Amino acid sequence: MKPNIPRIISVTSGKGGVGKTNFVTNIAIVFKTLQKKVLLMDADIGLSNIDIMFGVAPKFNIKHVLSGEKSLKDIVLNTSYGVDIIPASSGIKELTNLTLEGKVKIIEELEQINDTYDIFLIDTAAGISDNVVFFCSAAHDVVVIVTSEPTSIADAYALIKVLHKEYGEKSFRVVVNNVKELKEGRETFRKLSMVAERFLGVNLDFVGYLPYDEKIKEAIIAQKPYISLYPTNEFSKKLTEIAKQILKKEVNLVKGGVQFFLKKALSFNP
Ligand SMILES: Nc1ncnc2c1ncn2[C@@H]1O[C@H](COP(=O)(O)OP(=O)(O)O)[C@@H](O)[C@H]1O
Ligand SMILES: [Mg+2]
Repeated sequence: MKPNIPRIISVTSGKGGVGKTNFVTNIAIVFKTLQKKVLLMDADIGLSNIDIMFGVAPKFNIKHVLSGEKSLKDIVLNTSYGVDIIPASSGIKELTNLTLEGKVKIIEELEQINDTYDIFLIDTAAGISDNVVFFCSAAHDVVVIVTSEPTSIADAYALIKVLHKEYGEKSFRVVVNNVKELKEGRETFRKLSMVAERFLGVNLDFVGYLPYDEKIKEAIIAQKPYISLYPTNEFSKKLTEIAKQILKKEVNLVKGGVQFFLKKALSFNP
């Protein structure tokens, strides 16, 4: 039987607070409704947020895997939304920069549960830290979330630059979040793609925009994923289109998979 190889989708932004965690939480549920088995990893390893978004309080987290107390499959949490999560730990500064041993351990452990999932969705931390670069350079799809604020565009560009120049990443998929007017989405993408093309020779792929919606804050406060509360609102509709758009693009899963992840990870840790 052909082994199952999950598609690894990393979500990142450069700047913090642009909506990554809210995006992954909700798109994980969209993928599930599209019949995909999803594992969502909170890769903001020192500051856990995904568990809060889903309203769960995990007993064990990635810290217990890294210390060898638990295996990854023991800490995977099944949520009532049909999405499984790997919780991060909170307030552990050392984990904001994983050691090589830590990275290898995570990869090996992920490989153990490879067969169970169609999609590994990774919510990264803000910035261009070693952890962020590690998870992004190993993914099949790097989804960059950006807003119209110039600081967000500048930070997204800086992240793309590092991933491209230092790790040879060529493909980036862009989502514009917090859009208040239709043209804001296109215009923001245009600005980012123009600099990426001019200075890096990289063509960015626009996968869609998401509207600004006050109710997102309410959903987070209620610790319920927005899409479960408002499945027919504009944000949810657009998110569904984005999920389909992401999956539409074929990626080479034969060459990918967790083994590939391992090779790439080790290649930039000589
Ligand atoms: N489309 C949106 N409309 C309104 N508020 C949003 C939207 N996306 C995110 N937010 C808000 O932005 C804040 C940061 O979101 P979060 O997902 O935690 O960002 P990040 O993970 O990038 O730091 C949250 O308070 C959330 O309510
Ligand atoms: Mg976050």
